[in-house]
Amino acid sequence: MEWMNDPEIRHLTLREELPLNRSKGEEFFEKINKDMIFFGICLNDGKSIGALNLMLQLKNATLGITIGDKAQRNKGYGTEATKIALDYCFNTLNLHRVGLWVFEFNEKAIHCYEKLGFKKEGISREAVYKNGGYCNIVNMGILKDEWHRD
Ligand SMILES: CC(C)(COP(=O)(O)OP(=O)(O)OC[C@H]1O[C@@H](n2cnc3c(N)ncnc32)[C@H](O)[C@@H]1OP(=O)(O)O)[C@@H](O)C(=O)NCCC(=O)NCCS
Repeated sequence: MEWMNDPEIRHLTLREELPLNRSKGEEFFEKINKDMIFFGICLNDGKSIGALNLMLQLKNATLGITIGDKAQRNKGYGTEATKIALDYCFNTLNLHRVGLWVFEFNEKAIHCYEKLGFKKEGISREAVYKNGGYCNIVNMGILKDEWHRD
């Protein structure tokens, strides 16, 4: 809840217009079912630093990730967690594609995704109103045969 309502995280991720109150937050977690897999991202000592979710539909997953603990960003954890999730999607769930949406101004996230092999597939122009202006959303995806385990 703390991360989901953090103003900077709300700015960088697709969120409902209003912050979540306790009952809305509980509703969100109740929605987690067989179509949505929700992972915590933890350090080796068990400290929780973020979350990654996969919405599954017809051999496609839509991925979302947040390193909520800001002190733990830029240390490779976001890239590593996404890599583990891709391996799980392609080699355990045998999905065909993993996609995501990212704001065009979120250059760091786009860099991470491209480094892992995601391709820009298209842009939804001025798709969302934020902070006084309309933002483009980049649609990115990676197919199973483009994913190589190393
Ligand atoms: C985006 C996010 C998941 C990335 O995770 P992270 O652990 O911080 O990132 P990593 O340390 O794995 O990788 C950062 C990479 O971006 C690069 N980078 C850092 N700032 C950058 C910037 N402003 N522009 C472009 N690249 C940048 C780093 O150099 C590094 O690349 P490298 O490994 O090639 O050197 C994380 O920062 C986050 O949760 N941000 C807030 C929420 C968010 O934006 N979620 C994604 C929504 S689609």
